[in-house]
Amino acid sequence: MKISIIGYGKMGRTIHEVAKEMGIDVSSIIDPTDPNATHSSITKEAMENVDVVIDFSSPKAVLSNVEKVASFKRNIVMGTTGWYENLNYVKEVVQKNDIGFIYSPNFSIGVNIFFNIVERAAELVNNYQWYDAYVYEAHHNQKLDSPSGTAKQLGQIILSKIQRKKKMLFGSIDRKIEPDELHITSVRAGYITGIHIVGFDSEFDNIELKHEAKNRKGFAIGALIAARWIKDKRGFYSFSEIFRDLL
Ligand SMILES: NC(=O)c1ccc[n+]([C@@H]2O[C@H](COP(=O)([O-])OP(=O)(O)OC[C@H]3O[C@@H](n4cnc5c(N)ncnc54)[C@H](OP(=O)(O)O)[C@@H]3O)[C@@H](O)[C@H]2O)c1
Repeated sequence: MKISIIGYGKMGRTIHEVAKEMGIDVSSIIDPTDPNATHSSITKEAMENVDVVIDFSSPKAVLSNVEKVASFKRNIVMGTTGWYENLNYVKEVVQKNDIGFIYSPNFSIGVNIFFNIVERAAELVNNYQWYDAYVYEAHHNQKLDSPSGTAKQLGQIILSKIQRKKKMLFGSIDRKIEPDELHITSVRAGYITGIHIVGFDSEFDNIELKHEAKNRKGFAIGALIAARWIKDKRGFYSFSEIFRDLL
């Protein structure tokens, strides 16, 4: 398999390193400013001999990157977060150009196992009214979006399983939370690769489930596994929906 990497920052470089270890060829690296990139923009030449494009760039670049890559009929693994309000538009572009597209706020296999554990925990908690739920996350001080896409996905899982929780509430507030609100908070500091904690709290006890990424390799391995999966497919997929098929 031959890939192109869009965005040669912390994740792009890790993808490059892990691709070599997995025997995957990197045909081009696209980044507007990095001197080690092979191209500064998405051109026909940069897309030549490429099976799958892996994008870990910037939220504001996502729409135009998808439009350009789709016009060259290349399949896409979208690792960049912070664009989900445009999900329907991206889906349309994918369908119109008949390409394959897979996205996730978190391609780490461990986090996807964590999503499944949280889903089961929330199902159990749903039966016991006395538990409240919360999510908090911490990331390095360079992260552009907050809360993380992963925290929002954890929130969605909890809302889908705990009937008394109906909506997510982000950040700091100057009032009490309503019983049907799920509070999700973020911290940005230092070099933290990514910590996500889901808690269930009652008058009697507290249950916390935690995932902590130790480095970026876990995200890269998952994104490359997703690239192998999407290589000859058409359609719009989320990694969590196909995750159980991969195991
Ligand atoms: N899905 C997952 O598993 C996962 C895991 C980790 C991170 N992420 C997400 O991945 C994204 C990148 O994270 P990162 O930590 O690698 O960030 P980063 O270190 O800032 O790297 C992003 C790189 O993309 C470049 N870039 C910006 N606009 C571009 C464009 N139009 N075309 C090509 N490259 C462009 C940036 O260049 P400049 O510096 O010149 O702007 C930078 O070199 C973020 O959205 C982050 O939340 C996802």
